[in-house]
Amino acid sequence: MASRAAREESSNETLAEDPSKKGDIDLLREDFERLADRTQTLLTEKLLLENEVTQLSKRASRLEEDLRHLKSPPLVVGNVQDIVDDRAIVKSSNGTVFLVTYNPRLEASTLVPGARVTLNQDTLSIIEVLNDGWDPLVAASEIIEKPDVEFSMLGGLDKQISSLKEAAELPLTNPEAFERFGIDPPRGVLLSGPPGNGKTMLAKALANSTKATFLGIVGSELAQKYIGEGGRLVRELFDMARERSPSIIFIDEIDAIGSKRLDSTTSGDREVHRTLMQLLSEMDGFSSSEGISVIAATNRMELLDKALLRPGRFDRIISISSPDKDGVKDILEIHTAKVPLAKDVDLGKIAKNCEGFSGAEIKAVVTEAAMSAISSGGKQVSRSDFEEGVARILKERTSATKTNPDALYQ
Ligand SMILES: Nc1ncnc2c1ncn2[C@@H]1O[C@H](COP(=O)(O)OP(=O)(O)OP(=O)(O)O)[C@@H](O)[C@H]1O
Ligand SMILES: [Mg+2]
Repeated sequence: MASRAAREESSNETLAEDPSKKGDIDLLREDFERLADRTQTLLTEKLLLENEVTQLSKRASRLEEDLRHLKSPPLVVGNVQDIVDDRAIVKSSNGTVFLVTYNPRLEASTLVPGARVTLNQDTLSIIEVLNDGWDPLVAASEIIEKPDVEFSMLGGLDKQISSLKEAAELPLTNPEAFERFGIDPPRGVLLSGPPGNGKTMLAKALANSTKATFLGIVGSELAQKYIGEGGRLVRELFDMARERSPSIIFIDEIDAIGSKRLDSTTSGDREVHRTLMQLLSEMDGFSSSEGISVIAATNRMELLDKALLRPGRFDRIISISSPDKDGVKDILEIHTAKVPLAKDVDLGKIAKNCEGFSGAEIKAVVTEAAMSAISSGGKQVSRSDFEEGVARILKERTSATKTNPDALYQ
């Protein structure tokens, strides 16, 4: 420091001696400062540009990756059935079974029977194991969205509503009580009764009112839409129920998979049978402490395989038959709640004419009556509109029995 100060001193002295030189040096110094500033700006700019280049090249490689993905051939989806040394038996999504090789880098523990995998289109080698996420069908079953049906929308089913709550909800909300009394809570509840009397609606209302996860699935869909996959879907459904417990599984139209059959010879039958076996083993497999209740509905209970009705499976049966006199009136009231009724309408009398009707038929009477009022230009639904509605439903009933093949044997 000292020497630099001394040097400046001396140069100042020389400059002081020669004023013309002093001007030049001032200019040079200004130039120098400008250049230094400029260098600084350029350096910053360079840094910014370099940064941009790295970002752009990253983006380019991402886009290239996307492009490769788009160009890559589609993979076939299949299910592992068994592992045989260094090869696997897989069933592709169209149902054919193959013995294929697999990517040796796949973790052995993920490659187990039942795993969903992708297969190379040409060689059918297993490329990866798809185990994240649930099967779209299971995930899309009416699970998370609660239906907008409420118990108050059901007429004449008070007893059934309380038995259903007791059998399906109580074990989930108060498992200790069952333990204290030393009994096993009911596992499966079967809603049984003729069509159109509110079985599906009852289960939906329970779904709406319960805090438990509600997983709903329709038996006929399992049997028809997902051929070859039914067993797996049942297993996934129960796995999901376990994961999200407490939960209620609802299997509507269980007769589609649970009917007793004569010797099954067609492959479709065998497949349905496999789905049923899976269901039975899942029902035996969960313990009452797992927080799962199973409800099923059928209108052909006499057709169900007896194995389903054994203790520990669907051992609680709630029968939902056609409504009695009071029930009919309740249902009429529910369905006419928003209908403008003329003064001459006496729901009690109409109810008498609807005796023996199912809930769905009573609803249809109201719809027909309202239609008839609309077409005659009235502002309200009158007694004669209802009479017409009842007559129409009665007529439909008789024509239905005539065309129904069952009628041939009566
Ligand atoms: N008890 C009831 N109270 C009010 N409405 C009812 C009742 N029962 C049936 N309904 C009406 O009938 C329709 C059909 O009922 P739902 O689908 O629940 O019958 P289901 O018993 O499941 O018949 P299926 O055996 O054919 O499946 C409902 O949408 C509802 O409008
Ligand atoms: Mg139903």
